[in-house]
Amino acid sequence: MSYPFQIKSLEQYHRDYKQSVEDPEKFWASVAENFQWKKKWDKVLDWNFKEPKVEWFIGAKLNITENCIDRHLKTLGDKPAIIWEPNNPEERVRLVTYNRLHKRVCQVAQMLKNNGVKKGDRVCIYMGMVPELAYAILGCARIGAIHSVIFGGFSAQSIADRLDDAKAEYIITCDGAYRGGKDIPLKAVIDDALVGNKTVKKVIVYTRTRIPVSMIKGRDLWWEDEMDRAEEMLEINDSSLIPPSGGGGAEMDAEDPLFILYTSGSTGKPKGVVHTCAGYMVWTTYTFVNVFQYNPGDIHFCTADIGWVTGHSYILYGPLAAGATSLMFEGIPTWPDAGRFWDIVDKHKVNILYTAPTAIRSLMGFGSEPLKGKDLSSLKILGTVGEPINEEAWHWYDENIGKKKCPVVDTWWQTETGGALISNLAGVTPAKPSWATLPMPGVQPVLVDENGNEASPELHSQPSPGSVASEGGALVTSGNLCIKAPWPGIIRTTWGDHERCRQNYFATYPNLYFTGDGALKDEQGNYRITGRVDDVLNVSGHRIGTAEVENAINMHAGVVESAVVGYPHDVKGQGIYAYVIYNGHHGDEDLRRKDILQTVTRIIGAIAKPDKIQFVSGLPKTRSGKIMRRILRKIAEGETGNQGDTTTLLDPGVVEEIKNGRL
Ligand code: WT7
Repeated sequence: MSYPFQIKSLEQYHRDYKQSVEDPEKFWASVAENFQWKKKWDKVLDWNFKEPKVEWFIGAKLNITENCIDRHLKTLGDKPAIIWEPNNPEERVRLVTYNRLHKRVCQVAQMLKNNGVKKGDRVCIYMGMVPELAYAILGCARIGAIHSVIFGGFSAQSIADRLDDAKAEYIITCDGAYRGGKDIPLKAVIDDALVGNKTVKKVIVYTRTRIPVSMIKGRDLWWEDEMDRAEEMLEINDSSLIPPSGGGGAEMDAEDPLFILYTSGSTGKPKGVVHTCAGYMVWTTYTFVNVFQYNPGDIHFCTADIGWVTGHSYILYGPLAAGATSLMFEGIPTWPDAGRFWDIVDKHKVNILYTAPTAIRSLMGFGSEPLKGKDLSSLKILGTVGEPINEEAWHWYDENIGKKKCPVVDTWWQTETGGALISNLAGVTPAKPSWATLPMPGVQPVLVDENGNEASPELHSQPSPGSVASEGGALVTSGNLCIKAPWPGIIRTTWGDHERCRQNYFATYPNLYFTGDGALKDEQGNYRITGRVDDVLNVSGHRIGTAEVENAINMHAGVVESAVVGYPHDVKGQGIYAYVIYNGHHGDEDLRRKDILQTVTRIIGAIAKPDKIQFVSGLPKTRSGKIMRRILRKIAEGETGNQGDTTTLLDPGVVEEIKNGRL
């Protein structure tokens, strides 16, 4: 595989960037030429951010799996597409060649067809990080079914809400999943999620942990049996039965939905972000090859879970479309010990390591002991994603893991953006610790003030954070981060509710996509993402809405009301701080806390458990009844001094009480 669109120098970056902005249609057409199309586009782009409507490669027909698999078979058939490292290092590694991946994906496609799954149907996937998860996802894409992967840490209630929103009729799951020392009973969680569900017809269960499961007659099927049946049918090779294996899969329209991925926003209900076939494929491949400067043969290790967008884009679709070798890891960084990532790098001679700041900070805490005796010399490029990286963690990563020889890319993006929007290109454009740096070609960021006016640079007498000290200060622009025009991987809609998509992303500032993040920009045009400016938290790189956590806490019978804010946390980036008004003052506070945590785990999942719960008698509210989160945030952050203007408060006294009771 060669990548004619790979940017090789800083000059080329500037040249390509300029072209992408001046003539996006021409630029993206030339990138798209490098893919396999069943029919080429009639027009490259049509858009407005008012409705919004964004369409890329209009009229084109394709199947993304043909691009991710079939087109590589001739040259890369025997090369590993996926290297699978099990949770338990003693267990056998699995090497999935492109040939095998092809076979398995066609088999899954046939299995899904056998069970009535059709193009456009929603298939919910709730599995651990096993190769079969990759087969399941790509098998859906092969027949044009829309996959919706749910992270294994979400509760039955969260799954039920998502199944209902997507009106999913099929589920693929595992009996259980291994994560570190834990066995997670996935099928049992699905069973709970399905109590009262009337739309799900079939549940296909892959055997991983052999934990006992209950199989419901007529609904639940074993993956192994169904895959055997599909294999037999494929062997008969009757082309009427198996369109997936012949022509590289179902013919999909460029703008047909590829998947739904639920993510949190500032309202209580997660929204189903929809990505479509062609634009997402072009964007993930383009950014993968450029950000990581991927070279054929490199081993790419993205440590994310496929339940999040990072795994979708940079474990599966981007790397596979580039014919890469992608390492998929079932376990966690700290099991059996804190040297696990380094063992994996050494064992598989990993070239590119892409992980989250929270993992780096956590491993940094174990010191250099876990690094002893680990050969990390195969590493060429390091990456981070998911949250702002502090300078200390950046330098630790650069020095201890990259030995100061590997460019570090800080990739800023979102579930809604499909792939990286702002990032340095490894070794091609300069890095700046704690700065995501420059926009990708096709991405036009703009910083705006509250009124939507473009923010102006201001003279900072102090050098801007992360910059090399310069004399006389620096001009820095600060504002809310928006994007002016669509790139191929942009969100198309929120499933079942287009108005919500408009409201959320396109209504705050007319004709702009609003990211929800705040950012700084330096004189060179580098961006530093400072964090969310809405009511969304980023806990260990996981996105959680404060309203969602509040709703969950409020479900507890003893809770009258609650308010949730974030506070800085050394390892997680942000911690969850909950202020709770409890009914009556009797009983053990710790017991109450445990009950509330249990409730949150039930309603959302363990990832949303508050780190701190402070019981209060009231919450600071305006006369119109709105909770003044600014004040609560300041107190949680440890700023107990001046709370700013509190004159609009209904009962200013409550602030003192909360301050005094701070945890
Ligand atoms: C939010 C998106 C992108 C895939 C994983 C998270 C934050 C993401 C960075 C970064 C600073 C970052 C933003 C963004 N974020 N990457 N490199 N520097 N902040 O996807 O769950 O959709 O969360 O993560 O706040 O809005 P997500």
